[in-house]
Amino acid sequence: MFDAQKFIDQQVKKIGEDVKGRAIIAASGGVDSTVCAALVSRAMGDRLLAIYVDTGFMRKGETANVDKMLSRLGVNHRVVDASDEYFDALKGVTDPERKRKIIGEKFIRVFEREAKKFDASYLVQGTIAPDWIESGGGLRDTIKSHHNVGGLPADMNLKLVEPLRDLYKDEVRKVARALKMEVAEKQPFPGPALAIRVMGEPTRESVAIVREACAIAEEEIEKAAAAGKMKLPWQYFAVLLPVRSVGVQGDIRAYGYTIAVRAVDSVDAMSAVYAKIPHEVLESISTRITNTMKEKVNRVVYDITDKPPATIEWE
Ligand code: XMP
Repeated sequence: MFDAQKFIDQQVKKIGEDVKGRAIIAASGGVDSTVCAALVSRAMGDRLLAIYVDTGFMRKGETANVDKMLSRLGVNHRVVDASDEYFDALKGVTDPERKRKIIGEKFIRVFEREAKKFDASYLVQGTIAPDWIESGGGLRDTIKSHHNVGGLPADMNLKLVEPLRDLYKDEVRKVARALKMEVAEKQPFPGPALAIRVMGEPTRESVAIVREACAIAEEEIEKAAAAGKMKLPWQYFAVLLPVRSVGVQGDIRAYGYTIAVRAVDSVDAMSAVYAKIPHEVLESISTRITNTMKEKVNRVVYDITDKPPATIEWE
């Protein structure tokens, strides 16, 4: 039986003994990186800096929530607003793989810049067991010298600290609960965030539409689940389609965008089935989205495709 409290005590002691100097971590607000930041911060205090990069593609309220959560956990952190850089870099970019590549590279540049300012010699990463077992990694120490960490330049010479590397997701959640973190039950969210939930170029305007639609879909589904009308799906969100269609707003012909709502059940994301959400819940999502964004969205559809043949995300 995995004992979360024992794990926390052991890791804090080990990191305290082994890691001298300063360390940085990229905090995304997700379960793994937040648990890591909290653990390492207990051992290192302000010698750890958690860097949260606001790419401009975060969900509604996400940056403020992560900021508050890290403060409450006592983690020394910095929120970096890099959204102008991201929107600039993605001007005219519509291909999903190019979006991912540009977003990944930009992240490394921003993180590198901030890490250099802090003069860190360690990089903390929230790697968990499936991450390295799947990529064919052998046994490895928790703390290891590494020269090309996650694409960071070799001359930074960062040593890697991976306190969660022997844990599986359910164990990380247990640690999160033991640390009294509300992220313990968060649904999965892709690294490139809302940029890959806008089909086509991610602009401030298109991202704002999908951000609002995602927030509404999440709220309505969570409300219905809390009221016992349905089970909470494994993952649920909205996607902005690049097609416009004809509709009516009052007496006036409208020509607006379409939002696709997606909700799936899965165990490991390798396969998934679409969630059989009650029609009344779908209806409340649709009504709220079209009422809230009257001038922009006039059609909402529900994705009834499993994975395979589709993927969970649309890009
Ligand atoms: P797909 O769309 O491939 O997604 O069926 C499977 C799971 O992975 C998430 N996902 C990502 N997560 N970076 C991530 O960290 C990514 O680029 C990425 N793309 C997809 C997706 O949300 C789903 O849970």
